[in-house]
Amino acid sequence: MTKHRIFQILFLCLYLTGAEATAQVVARNGMVVSSNKIASEVGIEALKKGGNAIDASVATAFALAVTHPTAGNIGGGGFLVFLDSAGTATTFDFREKAPLKATADMFLDAGGELPKGTNLFGSESTNNHIGLKSVGVPGTVAGLYLAHQKHGVLPWAELVQPAIDLAEKGFEMPWNLAQAGAYFAANSPVPFLQDYFKNEAGELTAFGALWKQPELAKTLIEIRDHGHDGFYKGIVAQEIARYMKENGGLISLEDLQRYTAVERKPLKGTFRDYEIYSMAPPSSGGVALVEMMNLMEQADLEAIEFNSTPYVHLLAEVMRRAFADRAEHLGDPDFNVETPIEKLTSKEFAEKRFKNIDMGRASVSDSTKFGQLYDGSSTTHFSVADRFGNAVSLTYTLEFPYGSGMGSEKLGFIFNNEMGDFNPKPNFTTGDGLIGTPPNIIEPEKRMLSSMTPTIVAKDGKPYLIVGSPGGKTIINTVFQTVLKVLAYGMPVDKAIESMKIHHQWLPDEIRYERLLLSPDTRQALEAMNHTLIPNNSLGELMGIQIDAENKIMVGAADSSSPQGAAVGY
Ligand code: GLY
Repeated sequence: MTKHRIFQILFLCLYLTGAEATAQVVARNGMVVSSNKIASEVGIEALKKGGNAIDASVATAFALAVTHPTAGNIGGGGFLVFLDSAGTATTFDFREKAPLKATADMFLDAGGELPKGTNLFGSESTNNHIGLKSVGVPGTVAGLYLAHQKHGVLPWAELVQPAIDLAEKGFEMPWNLAQAGAYFAANSPVPFLQDYFKNEAGELTAFGALWKQPELAKTLIEIRDHGHDGFYKGIVAQEIARYMKENGGLISLEDLQRYTAVERKPLKGTFRDYEIYSMAPPSSGGVALVEMMNLMEQADLEAIEFNSTPYVHLLAEVMRRAFADRAEHLGDPDFNVETPIEKLTSKEFAEKRFKNIDMGRASVSDSTKFGQLYDGSSTTHFSVADRFGNAVSLTYTLEFPYGSGMGSEKLGFIFNNEMGDFNPKPNFTTGDGLIGTPPNIIEPEKRMLSSMTPTIVAKDGKPYLIVGSPGGKTIINTVFQTVLKVLAYGMPVDKAIESMKIHHQWLPDEIRYERLLLSPDTRQALEAMNHTLIPNNSLGELMGIQIDAENKIMVGAADSSSPQGAAVGY
């Protein structure tokens, strides 16, 4: 019996005997794991009413826009991966787009430099992340509507209504949002955010008090009653366009009217006898994940102990290569038709790439030579499984926590600052991580490259693992390591989420590691191999579901780093 199988049996026994554990929830009929318990409950209610995983996802996403404004949104965009009960996978791309008036050098000053400024958190950012010009045309409402039109079974209005109720009647202010409210009221350079957490009397909503969002409720009512058009046409669109024009933003009524979400083929890979379905470009997540899993398949993982020096070294080398390829090749597929996705995700490419990993020494990331390696912040995720055998993995984002921090008081929601995900300085790539490669340079109506990696792993066509995470570029590596730990190291999903993770993104050439979870002697050994190590408190906030289809058991787990994250099942 393999080590993997023993782990699987042990973990099944643990659940069947009802042993208490901290992070997982076990259910048979449905599971929603999101970064907010109220939103997970809203999703479960949709399932209980006879809805499927798509219905639950629509309801959860709108609820998160009310209860988790840090990243839950209608002013941003994202990706949804769907595996249906017949084993067919598809994806929905509702990534934001550059406005028609956007240009390649729109963030550069007269000298061609990328200026810096102070962001919402008082720290220094380049200006492609600051102010109304950083806002991409939002995609969330279009994406949820399209997915619902294609696969939903409950009426749209019933799925938007719980979010309206939460915004109108309010919900208890959680501690993390109360802290954010106090911080922004005192420090935010943006008036909208200073007032965002205040009640009708203009007072800051205290921890535990009811927080109501009447303007957001009105916007959601438009979306409930008019679907896609409730956001992209009519009074909401007119108000967005007015606000943009009066405050120096670029998004026009025409941008909103032209926006569409797209159904795309999933990025498919395999690892041993598992199938991996993830997001194709304009996210880089799926390509990088499959490339890294293919590279790991080349290694003798039975001989490489989890969390040992060779394990961390190998991960870092694999990540370095995948992120170099990401920088060189990936961008919006509607603008980069010749992206070599098949090559990057092929087993032959991985075999060749694996051969130039030196297990005794770190390679060096060189910003001038992608080819050397091969021949070369705030987001939120939720996972859903229903009793019919459907699964959804959905990641969406405002880019930074609270996005641009800007929005119209009449609409009550925050705009993203996703234009910051484009390469802002064409053809200028530096060792500290500024990438200037052509596939992701700004063009009107182009989608900016993303790292979001909503992923479903299937076994024999049935969902086995549903995962995703926030965390900017660290998303890809958080998902990669969680999938690897479950598939190759036999960890149950909650352990895979909580155990040590690292992040390497080619440039800057450094390993970030979870500082409480990597031992000092391993760190020393890695430094002796020429790796640079940077401590991090934690990486990602993965929301995952693992399914034992044979025994009809769903195990949900929310990353303990998420302040309000919760798995809810029934
Ligand atoms: N804004 C994070 C991402 O798209 O990767």
